[in-house]
Amino acid sequence: MPEPFANEPVLEVRRADVRGQFEDALRRVDDELPVQVPVRIGEDARTGDDLPSTDPGSPQRVVASAAVATGAEVDAAVAEAGRGLAQWRAVSAADRARALRAAAAWMRQRRLELAALEVRECAKPWPEADADVCEAIDFLEYYARAAVSLGQGRELLQIPGERNEMHYAPRGVVAVISPWNFPLAIPCGMTSAALAAGNAVVLKPAEQSPALAYVLVRALRAGGVPAEALSLLPGEGEAGAALVRHPGIHAIAFTGSLPVGREIVRAAAEPSAGQRHFKQVVAEMGGKNCVIVAADADLDEAVPAIVASAFAYAGQKCSAASRVLVHQAIADQFLERLAGAVRVLVVGQADDLETDVPPVIERDARDRVARYRELAARDGTIAAEAAAPGGDGWFAPATIVSDLSEGSPVLDEEIFGPLLAVQRVRDVEHACDVVDGLAFALTGGVFARDPALVRRVRQRTPVGNLYVNRGITGAMVGRQPFGGNRLSGTGLKAGGPDYLLQFVEQRAVSENTMRHGLVM
Ligand SMILES: NC(=O)c1ccc[n+]([C@@H]2O[C@H](COP(=O)([O-])OP(=O)(O)OC[C@H]3O[C@@H](n4cnc5c(N)ncnc54)[C@H](O)[C@@H]3O)[C@@H](O)[C@H]2O)c1
Repeated sequence: MPEPFANEPVLEVRRADVRGQFEDALRRVDDELPVQVPVRIGEDARTGDDLPSTDPGSPQRVVASAAVATGAEVDAAVAEAGRGLAQWRAVSAADRARALRAAAAWMRQRRLELAALEVRECAKPWPEADADVCEAIDFLEYYARAAVSLGQGRELLQIPGERNEMHYAPRGVVAVISPWNFPLAIPCGMTSAALAAGNAVVLKPAEQSPALAYVLVRALRAGGVPAEALSLLPGEGEAGAALVRHPGIHAIAFTGSLPVGREIVRAAAEPSAGQRHFKQVVAEMGGKNCVIVAADADLDEAVPAIVASAFAYAGQKCSAASRVLVHQAIADQFLERLAGAVRVLVVGQADDLETDVPPVIERDARDRVARYRELAARDGTIAAEAAAPGGDGWFAPATIVSDLSEGSPVLDEEIFGPLLAVQRVRDVEHACDVVDGLAFALTGGVFARDPALVRRVRQRTPVGNLYVNRGITGAMVGRQPFGGNRLSGTGLKAGGPDYLLQFVEQRAVSENTMRHGLVM
């Protein structure tokens, strides 16, 4: 029996020796670029260079060169997974758990290099990159333990003359479709959960981060997951869409934007000819995450926590704060302090330890943020900004906008960049009305001293993850099971006790144990 689950400790970035280790790891990683990422189906690997991934801070640096999966390769990967399923589902839960934990050990040994690859491929600043690697390790360790517990089935009511059992069987072949913003942890969480429950997986990672998805596949293979049970299909949306439609897919685990999630839910709903099952869809999508600041809030606590929640990783976390609802009585004071804190943020390269706000992931993202900033200037007042440096890289300024007119898209749409809207509200009840009016319900926060106000927000908020008197990002596996409601998500919480249930079907067996007389 392994020791109880504990989160992987992050490195202390302030220590000089740790900083030195980061620099050494970055040099080693740079020497090996570009990473060749193949289409990997079972033991077969086909390399290609149709899909380059580049450093957002230095777009001329090619980090990975990936092959793009064709339609025929999607079919071949699903067929291979069918063969892998027969093999992998026969492995005991304890042995599957051992493979996942061995993959975690593989990552632990290479954690500096993996973090360095995140700095390059996704412009994750060091602390964020290190935390992402730790979260990937946490998912492997947590779901390994969950697999063993699930393997024991559940107790049912027993009466004389009858034996009742309920056990969990894998669903089959799972398509995992992942985003780039947690380039190791999110594909790792979805893939390891599906594998833990005995499914085979075909992974279609984000086009912006194929190198990190390949790391995950190598870790799981090294841990002992058979080649047939895990294939990798790098490519753009088209490869994902082909997987979703494929009749050989039994479940889809998707994390990404609402428009793509909506399309996946729709495409998966109708069984195609010959398909004898409905596809299970687990879709985790975006948010418009609000932080409520009550009149009695401690601003020494609220201001730095809100700045970190809105601007760390340039606001590119699904959980990031994007709208503050502040009581009108303290709004001017709050805005002045928030503006002061934002003006001193350093927008810069991810590998520079002084950087607070790195570049955004790609040109389209920079242009999207610029469009919303223009809307913000049109519909409201730019209260403060930290300017983007010149030169290469997809930099966007860190910006606060206040006093937006009602109906401005900046208030309701997910921007996914370093732009925070501040809105005055009459009181906490008014703030809750605003939150309740949104279609998204992913994360939220409240800063208040009065416990009655906190209780009221807890009662009224529809969000999946509410944070009280703290930042609203950085959910930890096992401590803050994560996932949204409404149009933010359809699934059970990742990193929580129920997540694996989405990757199994329940089977109940009831046996008559009465003696019916001797059969001659
Ligand atoms: N709720 C969560 O847990 C969570 C976590 C991280 C990110 N997100 C969300 O993810 C988004 C950012 O990630 P992104 O830009 O990679 O999202 P995205 O939706 O653009 O892409 C996600 C994945 O879907 C694939 N894809 C694109 N079109 C497809 C199609 N038609 N069919 C199937 N697959 C398709 C992409 O290639 C990629 O692998 C944000 O909206 C963010 O809020 C949510």
